Amino acid sequence: LRALAARNAPHLAIGTAVATNPLLGDPGYARVLAREFSMVTPENAMKFQFIHPRPGRYAFAEADAIVDFAEHNGMAVHGHTLAWGEALPRWLSRGDYSDGELREILADHIATVVGRYKGRVAGWDVVNEPLEPFGPGLRRDSPWYRAMGADYIAFALRAAHRADPDAALYINEFACEERNAKSDALYRLARGLLADGVPLDGIGFQLHEDLTDDYRPVTAAAFRDNVRRFIDLGLAVRISEMDVNLHDDASPARLQQQAAYYASMLALARDIPAFSAFSTWGFTDRYSSLQDWWNPDGLGNGLIFDPALRPKPAYDALRRVL
Ligand code: XIL
Repeated sequence: LRALAARNAPHLAIGTAVATNPLLGDPGYARVLAREFSMVTPENAMKFQFIHPRPGRYAFAEADAIVDFAEHNGMAVHGHTLAWGEALPRWLSRGDYSDGELREILADHIATVVGRYKGRVAGWDVVNEPLEPFGPGLRRDSPWYRAMGADYIAFALRAAHRADPDAALYINEFACEERNAKSDALYRLARGLLADGVPLDGIGFQLHEDLTDDYRPVTAAAFRDNVRRFIDLGLAVRISEMDVNLHDDASPARLQQQAAYYASMLALARDIPAFSAFSTWGFTDRYSSLQDWWNPDGLGNGLIFDPALRPKPAYDALRRVL
C-alpha cells in the first residue's frame, strides 16, 4: 500500500495504529507493518497515563521504540494524544489540584512530550475528542475543561506549537464524518480557533464504523459533503482511526461489503489533496482493539489483515484504489 500511494497519491500517508507488544514481540506483525504503511500512530504508548505515569515522571521507552522503528523503516509518526479526558493516570484524575496547577501540569506535559520528539513526530492529535459523544457541547468531564473551560483547547495547541513549530497540529474526533449537530459544533470550534490565530492545522476524523444490520454507516458521499467545509477553512483533514466492525460475522458477503466500504473511503482521500493521511486503527484482526472493546469473545473482524496476517478482501480493495 505504501509503495502504491507514494507513486499514485503522494499527498496521502498510509497509516495505522501500532501496539507496542506485538511490535516488539511478533516479527510477522512488524514485517507487515513496515511493508504496507508509511505512517504509524502509537495506539496507546503516548497517552498521558502511559507516558506520564507519576507526577513529573515520564516513561518514554514504549513511545521511543515505536518512533525508532518508524525511523528505521522510513515511516512518519503521528503522535496521539496530548489533551484528552481519557487515559489519564490516577494521580491526575484523583489528585486535588487547583486550576492553576492543572494548567501547569498540562503545559509541562505538552512541552516535555512534544519537545522530546521534536522533528521526529510529524503531527499530533493535540486535542482528542473534545466534544460530547453526540455534541454539540464540549465534554466537561476532563480535568482540562474543569481547569480552563473551553480555553484548554487553544492553550494546548499553543503549547504544542511552541514545543515544535514544524509539527502539524490536529483535533481528532469521532462521529463527525457527516453533517450532524456534532460536526457542526466541530466546524464552529475550528473556525473560531483559526479566527483567534490559534495554531490548528487539521482535523482527524476517526471513522470507527460497523457494518452490522442495525447500524447505518456513514457513506463516502456524506463524508465528502461534510469535509469540504473544513477544507475550505484551509485545514488539512485525515482519516485517523478507521476500522469496520463485523463482530463475529466474517462471511464472504460481509468481507466483500467491508472491502467495498474501505475502498470507498480511500478513494475519497485519494481524490482530495487536503487529505494528509488514510489511517486505520490497527491492521490485523490478530490484535484489533475491537476485541477488547465491543467483542469480548470475538475478533471484530474489522481490519484489513486476518489473524494469520493474510490480506483480506479489504486489503485487495485498497490496493485497487491506489
Ligand atoms: C483505544 C485503544 O485502541 C485501546 O487499546 C485502549 O484500550 C483504549 O483506547 N478513540 C481514540 C483512541 O482516540 O485512542 C482509542 O484507542 C479508540 C477510540
